[in-house]
Amino acid sequence: MPRWGIIGTGDISDRVVADLLGVGGEVTAVWGRSPARAADFASRHGIPYSSAGRAEMLTRTDIDIVYIATPVDTHTAITLEALDAGKHVLVEKPIATSAAEAELLFAKARDVDRFLMEAMWMRFNPLHVELIDRIARGEIGAVRSVRASFGTPFHPRPGKERPEDGGSIVRDRGIYPVTLAHWFLGEPAHVSADGVVSDGVDLSGHATLEHADGGFAQLAWSGVEFLDLSAAVSGERGWITIDPMFWAGGNARIHAGSAERIFRDPERVMHPRVGNGYGPMLLAVIEAVEAGEREHPWHDAATTIAVTATLDRILADISSAR
Ligand SMILES: NC(=O)c1ccc[n+]([C@@H]2O[C@H](COP(=O)([O-])OP(=O)(O)OC[C@H]3O[C@@H](n4cnc5c(N)ncnc54)[C@H](OP(=O)(O)O)[C@@H]3O)[C@@H](O)[C@H]2O)c1
Repeated sequence: MPRWGIIGTGDISDRVVADLLGVGGEVTAVWGRSPARAADFASRHGIPYSSAGRAEMLTRTDIDIVYIATPVDTHTAITLEALDAGKHVLVEKPIATSAAEAELLFAKARDVDRFLMEAMWMRFNPLHVELIDRIARGEIGAVRSVRASFGTPFHPRPGKERPEDGGSIVRDRGIYPVTLAHWFLGEPAHVSADGVVSDGVDLSGHATLEHADGGFAQLAWSGVEFLDLSAAVSGERGWITIDPMFWAGGNARIHAGSAERIFRDPERVMHPRVGNGYGPMLLAVIEAVEAGEREHPWHDAATTIAVTATLDRILADISSAR
């Protein structure tokens, strides 16, 4: 069983570590910028060691894998440090602020023969696992379009999404609609996007991703207003609606199979969330590391880099329109 070191003591670390302990994970150490906050985090979660010295913590031999949950512009440097120290890495989404950086990180992980994954927990939710499997088996026919949005008016959150920290609403929230579209349609041939930018941060936006075969995705995200938090995947023989919050799992309706099911009484699929919802991803990472894998096939380097490249194209299009 790999032993975990935690880097970052913010909101998401708290929730992920609770789930990690909930699935039987072993957490041996935590690093935070402030010794007091690191010690407080350690005592809250029963972690034996805390430190404000990251380089020193990474030399510890009782850490096999680190989980990094710091602002996005620090992900590349800290991931490289951890890989250089011989640790496997699970790094929060978005993995980096450009596809070039994401490529660099996966190249490094290959060089040092360590596991690396972006913490795209949506891919591991039991609901999404079931839907991906059923769509792959053809239940709604060939997928032709995806519609998804994630807008919540919680910007600015204190200390977050600042341009100097790499803050970007499309990278923070739009990553979920874009990832969902990539699962079913792959890399787009053409991206057109627009949005609202203020003080260097893209506050909200929308994009159409078009594919050579005519498939398309219509996606939207926002940090300053609500946008319907559901998603839909449509195909030649039916469609699936994923209820809010579409990225967190929960409920979906499958409109396929018969006229009754399509028009009046869709099949309901339900997977209630357990804990904070990160357990399935954390278990999958533990199993992959134990099996000696260096990427997880469900969210591998190619997918991560492709999604990051689409986010780059969206941001470039939004910026060029301003
Ligand atoms: N998977 C999910 O559901 C989910 C949800 C939310 C966020 N996230 C991702 O998780 C990451 C962290 O988000 P968060 O909401 O937890 O942020 P947060 O609450 O602001 O916590 C960030 C942590 O990083 C530390 N930090 C800040 N600046 C730093 C720097 N320059 N170098 C090193 N550490 C620094 C902070 O330390 P101090 O305490 O000293 O300030 C804090 O411990 C982001 O990538 C975000 O996109 C994922």
